[in-house]
Amino acid sequence: MPLRTPLCDLLGIELPIIQAGMGVWGMATPPKLVAAVSNAGGLGVLGCSGLSPEEMRRRIRETRRLTDKPFGVDLLLPASLAPAATTRSGVREDLRRNHPEHVAFYESLLERFGLSETPVQDDIVISDTFVESQIAVTLEEKVPVFAAGLGDPARVAPRAREQGMVLMGLSGSPRNAQRQVRSGVDIVVSQGTEGGGHTGRIANFALIPQTVDAIAPVPVVAAGGISDGRGIVAALALGAVGAWIGTLFLTAAESDMPDLCKDELVSGIATDFDITRSWTGKTLRAYRNPVSQAWAESGLDPLPTPHQRVLMEDFLEAVKATGRWELFMNAAGQGAGGITKRRSAGEIVRDLAREAEEVLERLTG
Ligand SMILES: Cc1cc2nc3c(=O)[nH]c(=O)nc-3n(C[C@H](O)[C@H](O)[C@H](O)COP(=O)(O)O)c2cc1C
Repeated sequence: MPLRTPLCDLLGIELPIIQAGMGVWGMATPPKLVAAVSNAGGLGVLGCSGLSPEEMRRRIRETRRLTDKPFGVDLLLPASLAPAATTRSGVREDLRRNHPEHVAFYESLLERFGLSETPVQDDIVISDTFVESQIAVTLEEKVPVFAAGLGDPARVAPRAREQGMVLMGLSGSPRNAQRQVRSGVDIVVSQGTEGGGHTGRIANFALIPQTVDAIAPVPVVAAGGISDGRGIVAALALGAVGAWIGTLFLTAAESDMPDLCKDELVSGIATDFDITRSWTGKTLRAYRNPVSQAWAESGLDPLPTPHQRVLMEDFLEAVKATGRWELFMNAAGQGAGGITKRRSAGEIVRDLAREAEEVLERLTG
């Protein structure tokens, strides 16, 4: 029984499998991964949050060079954006003046792990002007699919529609899914709390059918905790038309995530992946490590965007510079507990499809 749903016609793909666009400074979902997924019949999505407009353009063109199949771009469009003039150095200034305890926490991390200060060099934070320039590149390059994580995609919808771009919006609750539809998205990606990265509170068994009912007939794609074909068929049974998969693709050979981070995903069990607000100030599921544990013990309240991000990105820059990946933000979901081996992206897509087709055969035969 072939795995095919209306999502395939909507996106011009063969399999209802989408590789989630994941930021992580361009390491998680580089063009070679995105193109490999699209070439295998799914939809690859470039995670571009945090990338400069020039780097985004380079990656979009590189992806086009590697595949003639559809692919997407994912951007974070935070609901509350810092004023245009806010720079990283300005935020640091503010942190020193108004949040000395948080700065002391950052300094204590450096000291405890023997790292020297290596602040991020670029002076960009996510601001309204910056996000607008990222949107402009995506539109100029005529990327076929645009996915908006967090925030309100209304600012993109009219322009996307005008050039025939499919617009997807991520959501963690039926109510937010309704807001996304009012903003003009064509597809809602509904992510359960078990998922990796920024995540909400509702688990997929409750979330998917409730979202499907809340926004019918707008199609829903399920995300969170899907690491094999059984998860895809379960998502279809709950009313979704496809799967948006993040964590599993982080372990693909073509992902540029560090080996140690991939190993943590392959060897980790579901309970190793906790929700923490240490890294970005928002609830984010990641592999529990000494840094997230130190944060939990500190008793500090997380700061809003972009302050917590700027604080911790300076720490992560020191981690990157020394290759101490055991201290890195390894965002991933509970589905990692079901990942037992590393494969290429093409193998992952083909395995997912074969497993899902076997389940469909079993259920209908
Ligand atoms: C490392 C990592 C980075 C992520 N970055 C983004 C991002 O930049 N934009 C976004 O919309 N979603 C992001 N997400 C969420 C994914 O798009 C997706 O919804 C999630 O990974 C699905 O759950 P799963 O990891 O259990 O498959 C990220 C997830 C992870 C694990």
